[in-house]
Amino acid sequence: MDYSALKDLITETKLEPLTGFTETDYLDQLKYGDFPRWRELLGKFPAVNITSVQLGDIVKFGANNDLDPEKHAVIKSLLQEMIPWRKGPFNVCGIPIDSEWLSNLKWARLTEALPSLEGKKILDIGCGNAYYGFRMLDQKPEFVIGIDPHLAYVAQFWALKHFAPNLPIYALPCGLEQFPRSLHGFDVVFSMGIIYHRRSPIDHLQQCKQCLKPGGELVLETLYVDGPAGYSLTPQKKYARMSNIWFIPSIGTLENWLTRCGFKNVRIINKSITTTKEQRKTEWMPFESLKDAIDIVDTSKTIEGLPAPKRVVIIAKSPS
Ligand SMILES: C[S@@+](CC[C@H](N)C(=O)[O-])C[C@H]1O[C@@H](n2cnc3c(N)ncnc32)[C@H](O)[C@@H]1O
Repeated sequence: MDYSALKDLITETKLEPLTGFTETDYLDQLKYGDFPRWRELLGKFPAVNITSVQLGDIVKFGANNDLDPEKHAVIKSLLQEMIPWRKGPFNVCGIPIDSEWLSNLKWARLTEALPSLEGKKILDIGCGNAYYGFRMLDQKPEFVIGIDPHLAYVAQFWALKHFAPNLPIYALPCGLEQFPRSLHGFDVVFSMGIIYHRRSPIDHLQQCKQCLKPGGELVLETLYVDGPAGYSLTPQKKYARMSNIWFIPSIGTLENWLTRCGFKNVRIINKSITTTKEQRKTEWMPFESLKDAIDIVDTSKTIEGLPAPKRVVIIAKSPS
């Protein structure tokens, strides 16, 4: 939870307004997510010196023999207190965290088409525990800033960063709507798995654009439905058991939204069907998962009778 390195990086840059989100005053006033509980839990992680960090499909901090058995047991139990782990997988000093999502599969779908991240300033909107942010570090960006209003996930990030405090990655507990307008300070912005949660997808895209430098790139990943340009699905109540889904567009609609928001060079990178191999219940996320949201007889439908989840990755450029 030490943001001093981030502050040094952004002071006297266009991103300086973000320091507000790192101040104790701001963190103390967070209404949702029980900040004191997370602060206490994070304070219990013992000091460790790890010998390696591996930023591969399984993001690994340290090795088995970096911990004595006593510390191993303490750390495992603290990490278990942070269940559910939705994004991953991770391995902390030999403790495997088998998350609900095999997020490495999404990363593999987009990684080859990504613009170079080397030396770049990156924003990951809806970063969760920052699994993707850690993967981005492999390309040596200047830094990655993730944002997510869900404090439990940001706390998971803080727990992981405890093992590699010098990595240039930071997560701020806030939503995009709280961000200062017109920062125009990031080279690459990721918005993955967010736009269908927003009541106004157009405002979301406009805000993504305002975060980007002129000529910067947006990596947009979302659910989509089949249908003509102009079509999008608004569930009557729930979609795949989720009550916070507002618009699931067709791909033509997404292209249209992006173009009307001023993005250029809109490219469809990948389309996929989400399977129960990629999203499933595990020891580290023992609650309902995709299997419980799909019709048992007709797996092309959700239990609400809507089209089952399909996802698309799009990359687009902010105007220069
Ligand atoms: C479906 S998950 C996607 C996580 C990750 N980006 C991925 O692609 O796997 C949506 C994430 O967005 C976060 N989120 C929801 N509303 C948000 C907002 N307004 N601004 C930023 N993040 C938000 C949620 O807390 C959650 O962690």
